Amino acid sequence: MEKAVRRIGVFTSGGDAPGMNAAIRAVVRTSLHMGIECVGIRRGYHGLINGDFTKLTFESVSDLSRRGGTMLYSARSEEFKTPAGQERAVATCKMLGLDALVGIGGGGSLSGFFPQGGLLCLAKRGLSVVGIPGTIDNDIACSSYTIGYDTACNTALESIDKLRDTMQSHERCSVVEVMGHRAGHLALTVGVACGAPAVIVPEHPVDYEADLLEPIRRARLAGRTHFMIIVAEGVEGGAYSIGKVIEEATALDTRVTVLGHIQRGGSPSSRDRITATYMGYEAVRLLAEGKTCRVVALQGENYVDYDITEALQMTKSLDQHTYEVMRALTGVH
Ligand code: F6P
Repeated sequence: MEKAVRRIGVFTSGGDAPGMNAAIRAVVRTSLHMGIECVGIRRGYHGLINGDFTKLTFESVSDLSRRGGTMLYSARSEEFKTPAGQERAVATCKMLGLDALVGIGGGGSLSGFFPQGGLLCLAKRGLSVVGIPGTIDNDIACSSYTIGYDTACNTALESIDKLRDTMQSHERCSVVEVMGHRAGHLALTVGVACGAPAVIVPEHPVDYEADLLEPIRRARLAGRTHFMIIVAEGVEGGAYSIGKVIEEATALDTRVTVLGHIQRGGSPSSRDRITATYMGYEAVRLLAEGKTCRVVALQGENYVDYDITEALQMTKSLDQHTYEVMRALTGVH
């Protein structure tokens, strides 16, 4: 007979993302609703290793959904990559009497970056585990959406709108680097949304003439005197190398802005709050039903779940349709 889950641990790991707090709240409230206790593990895997925890109650997660960051703090742990670190993490779970864990984070946290790491290695040591995809990069293959993506896009757009004012006044070219790790999802969405004449992403080798310089020239011929170019951080050389190419080829007065960590902060959008809430609920439901080694995911309008190993073998390419739309609107043939 399946052992009932009585106490769940929840933690956030890797780069934080707006909406992580809403997911924590949902995990806590759903657990309590189902008669399960909930313990917060602080500082991700680092906290699991060091027994850094906090008891979570109904009240302790009040007024949390609207807050950016993560109340449980986040970290990237080198020690957890070692068998000794993993043993210590398991020992903490035993000491706290945790039957199950919910991990909220990106690919590395769910187990992507190292063999048998992340949640998977804890499952192999007898714990029930469920992952929730939380990263502004939207680069987790099994889910069409990851918590934090929408807010990060909106934050980037807000900054770009401000940049546009000054670029317009000075008739300059602005090259804006957005985050995304090795993927261009964030850059592409932001680029389409702000009407950039060129969007450069790591998934497509860049042809400077066709993808960058010609669209700028065409915009100039159409009467435009300022230009907004979006570059994903994963592009080789980043925004500075693209800025140099533009300045040398066009003599435009060019400024580079790296948006950086500003994209990870701020109050989550309604989309992120809602997605996080549903995902938190689903994670606890799966554990309460005796499931383990699952990742909650969004596919279209539906919340689904995948085996973690299967999920990590999937690949996610850039949305081809959005890429085509971007090219059509920027005049690239
Ligand atoms: O994965 C989220 C992310 O913000 C990436 O977009 C970025 O490459 C990375 O984390 C930055 O990490 P850190 O906060 O450790 O500098």
